[in-house]
Amino acid sequence: MIVIDIIKEVEKYVEKQIEIYKNNADDHYDFWNEHIKYVYVESQKLAEQYGADMEIVKLGALLHDIALICKVGDREDHHINGKILAEEILRKYDYPREKMNRVLSCVYNHRSSKNATNIEDLCVADADIIAHFDNIPMLFNSAYNRNNINLNEVRSWLKAGFEKDFNDLSDRTKESFNDQYKLICKIVLGEDI
Ligand SMILES: [Fe+2]
Ligand SMILES: [Fe+2]
Repeated sequence: MIVIDIIKEVEKYVEKQIEIYKNNADDHYDFWNEHIKYVYVESQKLAEQYGADMEIVKLGALLHDIALICKVGDREDHHINGKILAEEILRKYDYPREKMNRVLSCVYNHRSSKNATNIEDLCVADADIIAHFDNIPMLFNSAYNRNNINLNEVRSWLKAGFEKDFNDLSDRTKESFNDQYKLICKIVLGEDI
């Protein structure tokens, strides 16, 4: 009997889709190195900390933005389309229904920890936010190149984004992330003189 490593398979699948996206996007955006790998690592740290199911969290993190990566539907609905795509992918591997539903819940509820229905949802949603703080250069790229923010506006743009992100974290992650958050704000935003 061949035993497949579902996580390895999904990793390979997501990486392949990211490669396709990168080769076709105007800005050659690298979803893995700019975003997914951070969510993947941070969600595992939270899963460890909160005693969540590691397999569910890993698959949820890998698949949470699959609709954006595969360019299916609008950004606004990417959690809905992501859930549909994730189901199609996991079905191909005969992934058990009960576990599949829990992964799909992570994908569907990843856009705010306020939507989390269980600890695995929460790990993915919080990691999705912490991933922004892990990759500050990407935020500057987003400001200057994607949102046409001017130099004199970039500080307030980043500040608003940081505050919104921090507020979207679950209460428990807010508490553990607080010191790091304060430090990041101080260093990145500097003193507002
Ligand atoms: Fe997302
Ligand atoms: Fe994301």
